[in-house]
Formats: sequence, C-alpha cells, structure tokens
Amino acid sequence: MLALKDEKELTRAPTPAKSTNASKPAGKSTSSVGKQVESASSSHRKKRARVQEEHEAEVSDDDVRDQAYSEEVSDQEQETDGEESDEPTKIVSKKRQPKKAAATTPKKRPTKSVAKAPSRSKSLIIKTPTTQRSISASAPKTDFEHARNRLHVKAVPDSLPCREDEFLEIQEHLESAIEDGTGSCIYISGVPGTGKTATVHEVIRSLQAKAEEGEISPFQFVEINGMKVTEPSYAYVLLWMALSEQKVTANHALQLLEKQFSTPGPRRLPCVVLMDELDLLVTSKQTVMYNFFEWPNWLHSRLIVVAVANTMDLPERMLSNKVSSRLGLTRINFQPYSYQQLVKIVESRLEGIQAFRREAIEFAARKVGAVSGDARRALDICRRAVEIVETNAQKAEDQRRLKAERNPFEDLGPAPDPEQVTIRTVDQAIKEMFASPNVRLIQTASLHQKLFLVALTARLRRLGLAEVEFSEIAHAHLQMCRLHNIEPPMLSELSAICASLGSSRCLLVESGKQDLHQRVRLSVSEEDVIMALKIDPLFRRLLDTLPSAPAT
Ligand SMILES: Nc1ncnc2c1ncn2[C@@H]1O[C@H](COP(=O)(O)OP(=O)(O)OP(=O)(O)O)[C@@H](O)[C@H]1O
Ligand SMILES: [Mg+2]
Repeated sequence: MLALKDEKELTRAPTPAKSTNASKPAGKSTSSVGKQVESASSSHRKKRARVQEEHEAEVSDDDVRDQAYSEEVSDQEQETDGEESDEPTKIVSKKRQPKKAAATTPKKRPTKSVAKAPSRSKSLIIKTPTTQRSISASAPKTDFEHARNRLHVKAVPDSLPCREDEFLEIQEHLESAIEDGTGSCIYISGVPGTGKTATVHEVIRSLQAKAEEGEISPFQFVEINGMKVTEPSYAYVLLWMALSEQKVTANHALQLLEKQFSTPGPRRLPCVVLMDELDLLVTSKQTVMYNFFEWPNWLHSRLIVVAVANTMDLPERMLSNKVSSRLGLTRINFQPYSYQQLVKIVESRLEGIQAFRREAIEFAARKVGAVSGDARRALDICRRAVEIVETNAQKAEDQRRLKAERNPFEDLGPAPDPEQVTIRTVDQAIKEMFASPNVRLIQTASLHQKLFLVALTARLRRLGLAEVEFSEIAHAHLQMCRLHNIEPPMLSELSAICASLGSSRCLLVESGKQDLHQRVRLSVSEEDVIMALKIDPLFRRLLDTLPSAPAT
C-alpha cells in the first residue's frame, strides 16, 4: 500500500509570490496574474531549469556562451533604476548573416555605442545574441561531407521551400506593425519539424536587411527560447536587458517593462520578440505567457510578439477562452510536410551535390511523410544514410590498404568511387534508428508507461545513479503531467505502471517491495528509450529537456 495519496505530498511547498508595484497602463485592467512573478511552482521550475542548463552545456560552445550570458545576469542581479530613455542605449550595426550551410556565424554580443536617434536611412538594428551555430569549421572536402553539413538540422538553409505562404504572411504582419509603430501579437503553431523557427528566423533576416537598406523603419529583435531560459520569469530579464542593457532581477524587470510599456516613448524603436518553444514557458499561473500576449495591446508598448509553440490551442488551454479571444492573436498553423514537400526540402539542401540517388530521397520522404511530416526527421535520416555510405567507403579503403600492404606487388587498380546513397542505405539508416526490439516494445507502451520511462531516465541522469527510488520517479512523472496538461495517474496506478514495465522487462524493480522506497532501474538501454520515443512530438520535447548523459 502506498503511503502517499497525491502529488502534493511529493512536491515541495511553494514559495509565496512576491507582489510588485508595477504601474498599469491607463484604461487597461491588468489581471492580478499579470502582476506577479509566479512562484507557486518555482521549485519544480528551478529543477527543470537546472536540468536544461546542464543539457545546454553539452550541446555546443555557443550554447555554453548563451547560458553563461544568461547566468551572468542572474548572478549579478543588480537592482538598477529603471529610468526610461527614449533613445536606445545599445546599437549594433546589422550585418546579414551568411546563409551557407557550413558558414560560421559568430555570436554577437551587444556592444555599447553612443545613443543616436534611429533614422530610416541608417542601417542600424539592435540585436540580441543570435542562435545560429557553426556546423563545420573547415571546408568540406567531398560531396558526402558537403551533404552531411547541408543536411545538418542546425545548418541555415539557403531557402525554405514550401513555406513561401507562411513566410509572406508573417513578414507582412511584422512589417506593417513595425511601420505603424503599433504593438501586435502573432501565434504560430505546428508539430515539431514543420519549419516554424526556421521561417521566423528567415523573416527576421529579411526584415533586418530591409531596415538596413532603409526600406522599413529600424526595429529591435529579441529572441527568448523556452528551452534555454532557466525559469519562465527569466523572460522578463532577457526582454528588459535587450531593451535597456540593464541587468535586473525578474521581479524588477517586470516592473520596469510595465512602466516602459505604459509610458509614451515617441522615439522608442518597435521591438519584435520571438518567444520560441512557448510550451516550455507555461507556468501554473500563466503569468509570463499572459503578459507577453497582453503587452502588445498596451498603447505605448510597440511590442510585436511572435509566439511559437507546438500546440494549436495553447492560449485557450492556458488562458481562459475569454482572455485569449480578447487578446486578438493572429494565428498561423504550420501543417506537417507532405511526402512531396519533404522531397523538395531535402533536394533543396542537396542542390549541386551528387551524393544521393533521387529514389533514395523519395524513399526517406515517404517514410517520414507517412508518420510525422517532420523535416528534421527526414534530414536526420538522410544525414545518417550519408554517414553509412562514408563508413562503408572507409572500410573498403582500409581493406584495400591492408591488401596492398600484404601483397605489395599486386596491382589493385584505382580506388573505386564511393557509392551514392541508395534506397538500401536509407532503409538501413531508418532501421538503425528504430530497429531494436526494445525500441519496438517501448513504442507500443501506453502514454503513462512511456512517461514513466522518461521520468526514470531523467532522474537517473540527474542523480548520476544506476537506480532510483519509486518516489523520485513518481515526482518527476507527476511534474511532467502537470507541465504538459496530462491527466496525472493516482500513485497506486503509477505503482501498477511500474510493475507492468517490470514484467515486460523494460524495468528492473526491487522485488518484494511495493512502496515509495522500491528501487527501480532501466532494463533496456537509455538509447532505446530515446530512440523509441523521440519520434513522438510530445516525447521529443520531454527528451530535449533531459539532463545530459554523464560522460563515460
Ligand atoms: N521548408 C523548409 N526548407 C528547408 N528546411 C526546412 C524547412 N522546414 C524545416 N526545415 C528544417 O528542418 C529543421 C526543423 O525546422 P524548425 O526548427 O524550423 O522546426 P520547428 O517547427 O521550429 O520545430 P520545433 O517545434 O521542434 O521547434 C531545421 O533544420 C530547418 O532548417
Ligand atoms: Mg522550433
């Protein structure tokens, strides 16, 4: 019999919310929700944030710099006076980012310069650090290397085929808001890999180029990624920092933002904020999301919010229907790519590169189109197929060399050219990615069984242990449910789920003990869990927030 009845007993008591004295815009009624930095779920938020932080640290140097940059702010939390200035305090001249796949795009940090009134003719853009990363520092030597670089999901593509309509719609929306100097909010939804982030980035690049040419008014661009912020309220800190270069606490940033958005600032530049991975910025009270949707409606904000999420009805689910309809969001839904569109996307990445047979690309696109329409997945499969061809070619070359060493007088002729990627190679890549019987077993598990496996993996990684107690997993499981609006199971149900995973040999559970202290470990590999679940949009999101695996 389990001692605990519900998740509350597993969750630490929330810290009381601090009140703020933020000023309100004239004539606007701001909900009390919008007046406080939520702390009710701060303990689980902090945990999640730490988890993400560690995950980020493993990803790339750029990410490390990003995080360090973010942490610098919280470490140095200086309460500064928020006197509003109409003039920007940091202006960075805008350079168009190179669009080559393998191009190195160094991150820029805002640099101070003498504040000047923005002028249409000047190509000045205030920028936050970009999210682009380098893929390969050295120039690719072979078609395969070239293909691998171009197919990398982090590579910035030369074009975004099949997203022309969405591109235009977003561009027109942002351009008119920038030109009118009004606030505005656009909500973009779509399942993973449908090009939401890529399209918004491309629109911003295009608008920055136009501003540089003096075709449109200058504007600021700030990107806040739910995956990267250590805590949802940190979004306030980032926005205020981008607007003012002041490093303040989240509470103070909220006050200063509200003060600025409710005060006339005729010379203030419009600010486009990309709130990416918005799903991860939701909080129990929805304060952050609410504020970012609400501020564009304030008369003096000039805030243009581009909110990007996977869920189509996130505003309705998280805010009340009444509030979300009052916010008047412009909505765009990105549909999953069809097979034909995936072919186009992969082919456009491979333009001028002779690494693939056309039918191999079609095969990959068909497989992905039938399941998810996720361009990221199609690119990953094709990239893996290239690696397989390269490995095979390397093996053949090694054998040739060995033979030559053994029979120095035998003429082996010229080395054969490596094969192109064929349907067989793509098939092998797909099988590799999904093949193991454990992967199939996990894929057939129920939603809560899968969540339990992810919760266990998260705890194992977090603690760096081989096994953890049931209570630890239950805690993580219930947090995930709450975060993703999934009906949580009772603890007794969770215990049954754990037992069922034990009998199907996904888990090893301590026998003879069915309480909170029962020790549990994975019986399948972590890799199998990840492989099996990352095809599912919800689980991919959860897996993305797992702490990094300890180095072996
Ligand atoms: N139309 C397209 N043309 C070329 N590449 C594309 C296209 N759509 C998506 N991609 C590529 O697919 C990958 C995933 O795209 P992106 O990150 O924009 O997806 P997303 O919709 O933001 O997914 P998520 O919801 O997971 O954040 C990126 O590498 C992107 O460049
Ligand atoms: Mg995205």
